[in-house]
Amino acid sequence: MSSTLPLHVIQLGDEAPDFTAQTTEGEIRFHQWMGDNWCVFFSHPKDFTPVCTTELGEAARLKGEFDKRNVKIIGLSVDGLQSHQGWINDINETQNTTMNFPMIADKEGKVSQLYGMIHPKADDTFTVRSVFIIDPDKKVRLMMTYPASTGRNFAEILRVIDSLQLTTYHSVATPVNWNEGDECVILPSITDPEELKRKFPKGWKEMKPYLRMTPQPNK
Ligand code: BEZ
Repeated sequence: MSSTLPLHVIQLGDEAPDFTAQTTEGEIRFHQWMGDNWCVFFSHPKDFTPVCTTELGEAARLKGEFDKRNVKIIGLSVDGLQSHQGWINDINETQNTTMNFPMIADKEGKVSQLYGMIHPKADDTFTVRSVFIIDPDKKVRLMMTYPASTGRNFAEILRVIDSLQLTTYHSVATPVNWNEGDECVILPSITDPEELKRKFPKGWKEMKPYLRMTPQPNK
């Protein structure tokens, strides 16, 4: 039977909904907590589950990489604070790390609903594995959705942050399988020869008028 509840759908470019929540590092107001940073906000189906345990361990180990990129990370699971604390002990013990970012205790599912993290046809209680990458203006810049059974790839999360930050501040896009340091694509909208020379002093290769490759501008 289809639901009559209005579905809250977040789209790229929307303002990330603000909320107040209890976390393992105290109560936060989300936008205020982010400050002028970027944010990776990711959900976990449930506490004391194996895939989530490995993901949270990896995120904690990569904290230095997120810090370098001015990115704050925050997790969410639909269990309470006491449960989170017990689980964090297990994560620290088994994943050779110390949890170093907050986990939202979303027992009533308010934040999960706000962000569309519960997909009833997958599971009507637990969240899917959502990732929202939010910029310092609080705009949603990237979303990924994985099922509970597939752990996320944190190398890919760092890769897309690098692409988002590069393409936000320079007039390029990143091509297939791009990684930090690889050639970039010049935005087709840039056609003025003087602007091209100023923005791409290292030069470019033109294969088609719309397909021009240039060395990564900020390297
Ligand atoms: C996990 O995190 O391991 C998991 C959670 C829910 C379903 C399957 C796996």
